[in-house]
Amino acid sequence: MGTFDDSRMSAAQTQMSDSHNESEAQAALTPNPWEAAYLRFETPEEEIRKFIGRLNRLGARQWPSDAEIVELFCGRGNGLVALQRLGFTRLEGVDLSPRLIAQYKGSAKCTIADCRKLPFDDRSKDVLIVQGGLHHLPNLPGDLDQTFSEMQRVLRKDGLVMFVEPWRTPFLTFVHFVSEIPIVRRLSNKMDAFATMSEHEIRTYTQWLSQPELMQKVAREHFVPVHESFAWGKWNFVGKPR
Ligand SMILES: C[S@@+](CC[C@H](N)C(=O)[O-])C[C@H]1O[C@@H](n2cnc3c(N)ncnc32)[C@H](O)[C@@H]1O
Repeated sequence: MGTFDDSRMSAAQTQMSDSHNESEAQAALTPNPWEAAYLRFETPEEEIRKFIGRLNRLGARQWPSDAEIVELFCGRGNGLVALQRLGFTRLEGVDLSPRLIAQYKGSAKCTIADCRKLPFDDRSKDVLIVQGGLHHLPNLPGDLDQTFSEMQRVLRKDGLVMFVEPWRTPFLTFVHFVSEIPIVRRLSNKMDAFATMSEHEIRTYTQWLSQPELMQKVAREHFVPVHESFAWGKWNFVGKPR
């Protein structure tokens, strides 16, 4: 049996290790600098409205409401909220960041995983959506080919892929130019967040934007396009698996 001092000591040690564990847990959930900029770039409601408009424009109204849909690279899950508000009920999300997934409060099942190796069975999903994730892949075109192969594997034969990624249209060039002006950054939180995100993802972002033909070629090797458009700095693609 321990003495009074021993038990006080062990209580203090437990307290110290509790607070150590707590601070470790806290640190694990603290967004990194890119994530912090992404979180302040748009409010959740702004992002949800943007996603609802985009989903409607790209044909989501025609999907059955019980379609099994996965939002890949789902981040804080506002794409899932948008899908739920449009009436879809069988939703899942995948993202690499436990810190961003922890911000999602909806009912979809979210999994922390790398989209280059999807945690789903072959031919098990109807729709796979990516909104601004592919340009984060570190090695192109290899990682894109691997991610698309995984998406092709997981989609049912009559399934659909939808992705929206940055594209160097004149609008994007203009936004980059403006967001890098110091006074604009000081006056606009949104522009500063955009410029900060761009700085932190500069390698993958530049790699993505500088090889547009190759990105399109890889997409076409895996999917037959049913819709493709380039507008407002985005590549919008809807396709069927080959
Ligand atoms: C621009 S965010 C997009 C988030 C979400 N689609 C949205 O628009 O709100 C990019 C996301 O990709 C995630 N990500 C980057 N590489 C990934 C990978 N290999 N597998 C899964 N997620 C990844 C990041 O954690 C981040 O949440």
